[in-house]
Amino acid sequence: MGAGIAQVAATAGHEVYLYDANANALDRAKQHLEKIFARLIEKERVTAEEAEIILGRFHFVDSLYAYKNAGLVIEAIVEDITIKKAVFEQLEDIVQPNCVLATNTSSLSVAAIASACDRPDRVIGIHFFNPAPLMRLVEIIPALQTSVKTVNEARKLVDSWGKTTVLAKDTPGFIVNRIARPFYGEALRILEEGIANVPTIDWAMKEQGGFRMGPFALMDYIGNDVNYKVSETIFSAFYFDPRYRPSFTQRRLAEAGYLGRKSGRGFYDYHERAQNPEPVIKEFFGRKIVDRILTMLINEAADALYWGIASHDDIELAMTLGVNYPKGLLAWADEIGIRECVRRMDLLHEEYLEDRYRCSPILRRMARVGSTFQSPK
Ligand SMILES: NC(=O)c1ccc[n+]([C@@H]2O[C@H](COP(=O)([O-])OP(=O)(O)OC[C@H]3O[C@@H](n4cnc5c(N)ncnc54)[C@H](O)[C@@H]3O)[C@@H](O)[C@H]2O)c1
Repeated sequence: MGAGIAQVAATAGHEVYLYDANANALDRAKQHLEKIFARLIEKERVTAEEAEIILGRFHFVDSLYAYKNAGLVIEAIVEDITIKKAVFEQLEDIVQPNCVLATNTSSLSVAAIASACDRPDRVIGIHFFNPAPLMRLVEIIPALQTSVKTVNEARKLVDSWGKTTVLAKDTPGFIVNRIARPFYGEALRILEEGIANVPTIDWAMKEQGGFRMGPFALMDYIGNDVNYKVSETIFSAFYFDPRYRPSFTQRRLAEAGYLGRKSGRGFYDYHERAQNPEPVIKEFFGRKIVDRILTMLINEAADALYWGIASHDDIELAMTLGVNYPKGLLAWADEIGIRECVRRMDLLHEEYLEDRYRCSPILRRMARVGSTFQSPK
């Protein structure tokens, strides 16, 4: 992630200093960036002269002291709160008083990271998506301690890099990683209940739901180890709310080393001449699968709005730009009808009697007064 973020900043004209505790990782980042720019020249996205100028802005350094005069430091190291806090503590002794300190954490508390600093008001979450140069969305996460000045500065800067920023509350998964949970979790649940197999669920979500990738193809792409870990972290961070419960099926895949594309096998077999099962193509059946997963996604988006995790517009932007959903989930809810969304959630709840399927209070209230997300009453 660090190399991708560095590419974004250097392309925007900044001198960028890359540091990694592991010299080999730094070497790999250097080679990766050289390869990327060679490819960009080949594809005529940049000229050789432009690439040379941008590559000249990277400085691969072996000490945090290189950040002495930095205006902004973006930390993208291992996802470990103790290590991150130690690095922030060290950084604060090195940088100038006006330097903004940002973390790219996906799941840790920004407030906890900021607490390592004497001046936590200059600490903020700037969460890029992978690959950073291609994904337009960036979540900006002020901690409880972050000053308005830091938020404004960080947002303005990242916007000027051609990114679209959204403001998220410092809560587990921020916007995207929270709202997207049912895309994986409910698909896994449908699989585990034996309702449909992997290719059928993927076919339904792609062909009938209009999603760019099916949930299982996407989990294989992200890596079952990584995706499982995010689910597990969010589940425990939400005090074991059953809505976010991870799946044994995915856990076993990760344990077996069936990580997905990167290991050649996950939910699908990626080896040459591998025989993967075919989907069961039945329109009515496909629609039922989409309706169930989509209803859970809508419920999650509505609930995020209810709890003030982000504004209506930022929730819509986050899910369309961050994970390329075909429509904003709140607009989708309006299209389906709020009463229908409530009815679908209640049917699931009636069937399973599990808290996992509780309808968000905001949907229930809206249904009662006949309101929509577009024109709230
Ligand atoms: N990979 C993603 O898709 C993704 C997306 C968004 C955010 N993030 C976040 O970005 C951060 C990095 O993720 P990643 O996937 O690039 O991880 P990674 O494991 O690929 O890279 C982390 C790097 O941090 C280095 N490191 C560890 N301890 C260090 C220290 N004390 N000082 C300096 N360097 C140290 C490691 O050597 C390693 O090269 C995490 O916080 C992660 O949650 C990742």
